[in-house]
Amino acid sequence: MSAPAADMEGGPQKAALKAPQKQQKPPSPHIPRFFAVLAIGLLLAIPIAVPIVVMKVTGKSGKKYETLEAAITGPELSKDFVPIADEEVTKEEQKESFLKVTDKSFERFCRPYYTAGFNAYELVEAAMVSRRAETVGDRSGAQIVDDTLRSAAARGINTVRMWAHTTTALYPFQVAPGKYDERGLKSLDFVLETARKYGLQVILSFIDNWKYYNGVDQYVDWSSTAPNRTLASPFKDLVGDPTAAIYGTGPAGEELKRYETERHALFFSDPDAKKFYKNHVAFLVNRNNSINGRVYRDDPTIIAWNLINEPRCESWLASNKDCNKRFQNWLAEMSTHVRSLDPNHLITIGSEGFYGDSTPQLMQYNPQAWARELGQDFVMNTNLPNIDFATVHAWPDNWMLPQDKIPAFLDKWVQSHMTAGANLSSGSKPIMFEEFGKKLNADQQTEWMIQQLRDPIYQSTYASVEKAIDGKQPIAGSLFWKLAIPVFDGQDARGPYGVDDSDSTMAVIQDHSEFMKRKMNSVPPRPECNLGAWFGTLDQASGERNCANVPAAATAYFAKAPAKADDIGSKLADDLKAGKALVFPTKAACCKPGTGAFPEGCTTPSAKKLRRSA
Ligand SMILES: *[C@@H]1O[C@H](CO)[C@@H](O)[C@H](O)[C@H]1NC(C)=O
Ligand SMILES: *[C@@H]1O[C@H](CO)[C@@H](O)[C@H](O)[C@H]1NC(C)=O
Ligand SMILES: *[C@@H]1O[C@H](CO)[C@@H](O)[C@H](O)[C@H]1NC(C)=O
Repeated sequence: MSAPAADMEGGPQKAALKAPQKQQKPPSPHIPRFFAVLAIGLLLAIPIAVPIVVMKVTGKSGKKYETLEAAITGPELSKDFVPIADEEVTKEEQKESFLKVTDKSFERFCRPYYTAGFNAYELVEAAMVSRRAETVGDRSGAQIVDDTLRSAAARGINTVRMWAHTTTALYPFQVAPGKYDERGLKSLDFVLETARKYGLQVILSFIDNWKYYNGVDQYVDWSSTAPNRTLASPFKDLVGDPTAAIYGTGPAGEELKRYETERHALFFSDPDAKKFYKNHVAFLVNRNNSINGRVYRDDPTIIAWNLINEPRCESWLASNKDCNKRFQNWLAEMSTHVRSLDPNHLITIGSEGFYGDSTPQLMQYNPQAWARELGQDFVMNTNLPNIDFATVHAWPDNWMLPQDKIPAFLDKWVQSHMTAGANLSSGSKPIMFEEFGKKLNADQQTEWMIQQLRDPIYQSTYASVEKAIDGKQPIAGSLFWKLAIPVFDGQDARGPYGVDDSDSTMAVIQDHSEFMKRKMNSVPPRPECNLGAWFGTLDQASGERNCANVPAAATAYFAKAPAKADDIGSKLADDLKAGKALVFPTKAACCKPGTGAFPEGCTTPSAKKLRRSA
């Protein structure tokens, strides 16, 4: 096997980890503040994106691919691949298939929707890999994506968050302003279609704050209205670990940090950078999916857009003093832009949710004092009219909290946002706990350590979410960071944050996902919405799995009609209330393998025409 483990060891993942390992202790109070803030700002970048390993790839024919680039093809579909047919849906079903926000919660198909999911920005990259490379199980990247999403759905997971771009030039995406590589786009198309196939919903982010390919810094470098660079870019050919250079210490390193911080902040005000961003939004929302012919704007598989992942406009630097305002103006302008082009999808920020100057009383809940100087202001930002829900991320390891304080911090972090969220002048908006995870160093990647260190964090996080849902607080759910997606033989896909399918953490995740699935699917659509109330039916004799529509169950559930003891609708409504039955708003949802009524789906999912019993 020449998929070189050694190459990977010295590869970008290692490099990216160097700095935080050095910085395990809180920065000394003697170091200049701007330095501390920067160091921390960079630390925060670490969990965000570690590009798929750069490696030489040997094909099965023995042909050596000098670079991964040669094995990048875009999704390789088997000859018999056919996108699944559009389900027959009624007008009402179509209308209600987009996620909405009611007072405090998400609603989809006229009933509550909770997210139980994961982050996996690598999906688009994985989908581009040819089966000629030495992949796990000799599968094409497309097959790996398919297997990954199928098994996630089988565990009750319903939501995936990822980037609407890639993070390294090895997987080409937007190669110049407005110029796209079709292989990258087709891979995104493929991931969306595969998610749809398994009944998963997707959250996409337009851009990443961090210093990667297609990120904020690249937009500024593309700009002709921003000043030309005077210091060499710390990007290393947009391949590998672009942050390494700015970890440099000494006067040269500090100068570069100041320079990069100032330049980075230009993204939020520079005319060209704003134009490129707006064009990218327009391009994506109008993209016609090459695999299923759905325009992104009209695809309910997408439930929300992130405007930007983990934005930073760092205001500790004198020249960036206006950063909070600058970022707020940018959010207002861009959220309005997205809304004008895509009225169907929810819009959110993608920020960690740090409290800023507008809420001095909430500063105490920030992980550290520097958090208020990064440009974010949770309440002010979330109050914008075109921000539909709030996001919170939690990275206590990178925020340098002691181990024993982490569970309490996480609980307070979530609680304080729900309280602050309920206090928004624009009305309560649901809060999504959009990223959380537990870092394990290389020597902690053992079954026992995973059980001791990571599983309790997942358990306590999920317990907070479940408690909030039971308490009818404005929580939307959570997404862990991140699912490990092994693509290449011998690759350590897990890294410091990845949860492998074989890890004990998966059982914790599955328990929670099933809790969320029961919560969501124990409520039928409100009767006035004119949707169905589909229940799984199993024919004991023939073994045939199917779904039947009993709208009377919804009527009885909401007590719109007097319950009759012998009425099947009333009985099902009682079963729902007692947690003894699951109900789905459409036949398609009921028959989906994994997320529907049966793990394997219906026996004949789309054979019969969908008919509504009156
Ligand atoms: C900036 O760089 C571009 C491209 O190299 C060049 O054409 C332009 O003259 C430069 N502008 C200034 C002000 O130096
Ligand atoms: C998207 O592409 C499909 C397949 O080429 C086509 O049938 C459909 O009309 C296109 N949709 C739009 C809105 O252009
Ligand atoms: C809610 O708003 C009121 C009035 O603006 C303020 O006094 C209070 O501290 C706020 N509470 C929270 C938790 O933000």
